[in-house]
Amino acid sequence: MRLLVTSALPYANGDIHLGHLAGCYLPADIYVRYQRLKKRNVIHICGTDEHGVPVTISAEKENKTPQEIVDHYYESIKKSFVDFGIYFDNFSRTTLPLHHRLAQNFFLKIYNKGYIYEKEVRQFFCPGCRRFLPDRYITGKCPKCGADNARGDQCEACGHWLEPFELIEPRCLICGETPIPKQTKHWYFKLSQFQKKLSDWIEQKKDWKGTVLTFIKGWLKEGLADRPITRDMSWGVPVPLDGVQGKVLYVWFDAPIGYISSTMEWAEKKGEPDLWKEYWLDKDTKLIHFIGKDNIVFHTLIWPAMLMAYGDYILPAEIPANQFLTLEGRKLSTSKNYAIWLPEYLREFSPDSLRYALTRNAPESRDADFTWRDFQVWHNNELADILGNFINRTLTFIKKYYNSSVPTASTFSDYDNRIIGMLHKAPQIIGEKIEHFEFKSALQEVMKIAQEANRYFDHEEPWITRRTSPLICERTMYVCMKIVTSLAVLSEPFLPFTSERIKKMINFIPQDWDEIGSPDVAKTIHHTGILFQKIDDEVIEVQVNKLKKPKLNIEDFQKLALKTAKILKAGLVPGTDGLIKCQVEVGKEQKQIVAGIGKHYRPEDLIGKIVIIVDNLKPTKIKGVLSEGMLLAAVSKDDIVLLTTDRPIDSGETVK
Ligand code: 2FM
Ligand code: ZN
Repeated sequence: MRLLVTSALPYANGDIHLGHLAGCYLPADIYVRYQRLKKRNVIHICGTDEHGVPVTISAEKENKTPQEIVDHYYESIKKSFVDFGIYFDNFSRTTLPLHHRLAQNFFLKIYNKGYIYEKEVRQFFCPGCRRFLPDRYITGKCPKCGADNARGDQCEACGHWLEPFELIEPRCLICGETPIPKQTKHWYFKLSQFQKKLSDWIEQKKDWKGTVLTFIKGWLKEGLADRPITRDMSWGVPVPLDGVQGKVLYVWFDAPIGYISSTMEWAEKKGEPDLWKEYWLDKDTKLIHFIGKDNIVFHTLIWPAMLMAYGDYILPAEIPANQFLTLEGRKLSTSKNYAIWLPEYLREFSPDSLRYALTRNAPESRDADFTWRDFQVWHNNELADILGNFINRTLTFIKKYYNSSVPTASTFSDYDNRIIGMLHKAPQIIGEKIEHFEFKSALQEVMKIAQEANRYFDHEEPWITRRTSPLICERTMYVCMKIVTSLAVLSEPFLPFTSERIKKMINFIPQDWDEIGSPDVAKTIHHTGILFQKIDDEVIEVQVNKLKKPKLNIEDFQKLALKTAKILKAGLVPGTDGLIKCQVEVGKEQKQIVAGIGKHYRPEDLIGKIVIIVDNLKPTKIKGVLSEGMLLAAVSKDDIVLLTTDRPIDSGETVK
C-alpha cells in the first residue's frame, strides 16, 4: 500500500496564516510524519496555486504584474512552511510549463470524450475597464442578507453562494462603474452527468467526517449543475482549442490537476520520471486530500467528477476537511488583513508552540477559536510545566547524580510496571487516532503520558531515595528515561522541533514508531536545557493589541489626500492659548487650518515652513474658526513636532 497525501494548494497571493495551518497543512504534516515513523510508503505533495482572480486582484492592488506576485509569494510561502516544520516531498507551482501542458491535456481528453461543451452566455462587462468581469471583480449588495460589499461569487457576511446577476446595485471592483451584461462564449463541464456516479461513490464513504458528508449530501440533493470551466482573462492556462484566444481555464479546473503535476515534478527530480504513475494510476494507492472547509465542494464533487471523466487516475480515498478557525472571536480575513501571518509569528515565537495550540484546539469537527491568551496558557502551563518540566527534571537529575550516565534496572515495582505498560500501549492508541484523523485527541494522549510521568516522579521522590535506597532511585530514573525516550518519538508528529531537541539531549534517536517502549533507552545525557521558556503577559498583550488596531488596505490609505503645504500666515486664535490659525498655500490653492500647536510653536516661527497636511478633510469649525485640513505632527508625551520634508519642495505635492 502507498499513501499519496496532498494539502490544498495555497493561492500565491498572500502569506500563510493561522487559518490555513489549522485547516489543512498542520494536520497533513502530523499525519505524514506519523506514517513515516511507521515506515510506510508515503509522499506529501503540494505547491502554490498561481492562477485565478485572487492573484490578479492582488497584482492590481499592489501595482505589480501577476508574475511578480506569484514569484514573491511562492518563495515566501515555501520558506514559512519549512520554518514551521511542514515537510513536503514536493512543493511545486501551477505556472510551470509541465503543469500547463498537463492541465491542457486533461481538458482536451475530457473534451474529446464529450464531457465539455461550448455555450453562449451573458456576463458582466465593465465599460470603464473594457473587459469582462470575473465574478469576484464585481461587488454589490447581497440579495440574501443585504450586506454591502458582497462579491459576485459569494457573500462573506452570510456565506451565501451567488451569481453575479443576483447582486443588487452591482459595481466593478476596480473602477467602481456599473457593469453591463454582454454576450460571451464559455466551455462547460457536464457535472450534471455525474450526479448518480458521485452519489454512489459517496455512499461508500460512510466513515468520512460527518461535517463533510452533510455538506456533500446537501449539494447532491440540490442537484448538480454543469459548470463553466473557462474565463475571459489572460492570466492562466490558455484554453487549448484552435482559434480560441483570450480564454483561460478556470483556476479551480487547473488547480487540483496541480496535485498530479507536482507529483510528476517530484518523480522527475528524483530521476525516476515514471514513478508518479505508481501513485496516480495504481489502485493500491490511497489518495488523501487534506483541505479546509471552503474547499470541500471542489474536492469532494467537482474534482472526483473530473477524475471520473478522465478515467485513468485513482479517486480520493479520504478527504479529512477541517472546519474554520476564528481569531479572538472573529472571522479571519485576508482582505481585511485580520489574521496572524506565519512569517510574522515565526519572527517572535517558536513553531512548536503554535503547532501545539492549533492541534490542541483543532477545528476538527466544529469551528474553533484561537486566542492569544489560550496560546500563552497552553504554552506555559502545559508545554513548559508538564512536558518541558518532566524532561528537564529527569535529565538534570541524571546529569547531577549519575554523571550523565543513565542507570539500569532489572526488577520493577507495580507502579513501575504500570508506567512501562502505558508506554507499550501508547504507540498503538495514538497511532490509531492519527490514522482516523483525530489529531487533537492523539495529542491529548501524548500529554497524558507527560502528566503521568510527573506524577510518577513526584510519587517516587528520587531526591529522597537517592540517599535512602539507591537501587530504587536507579530504577525510577531508568523508568523516567524510558518515558523521555518514548516522548521524544511520540511527540515528533506534533512537535518536531522539540522532539529533535530531546533526541539530541539524550543522544538517542529511536527510529521506529513501533519500537517505542521497547527495552532500549538512551545510555547517556548529552546535555540538558529548557525546552520551553515561559511567555510573559506583556509579550501577549502586544499581540492582542496588534489585532485590535484595524489594519488598513492600501485603498484605505489612498483615501487620504496628503499634500505638502506652505504656511503663509499664522496667528493665535483669540481667546485660546493653544490654537494657531494658519493660512496655507497648497499648490495654486489657499486654505485655512487650525492646529493645536500653540504651546510648542510661536506663530511667527511658522511662516514659510513647508508642512504636510491632510488636504481632504471635511471642513469643520474649531472654537468657531473654520479649519479646512489638518497639519501632521509627531506627538510625544510632552512635545509636538510638525512634520516637514527632508529637502525643499513646492507646496501642493502629493505625499504617499
Ligand atoms: O482555497 C484555496 O486556497 C485554493 N487555492 C485551494 C486549491 S486546492 C487544489 F485544488 F489545488
Ligand atoms: Zn471597471
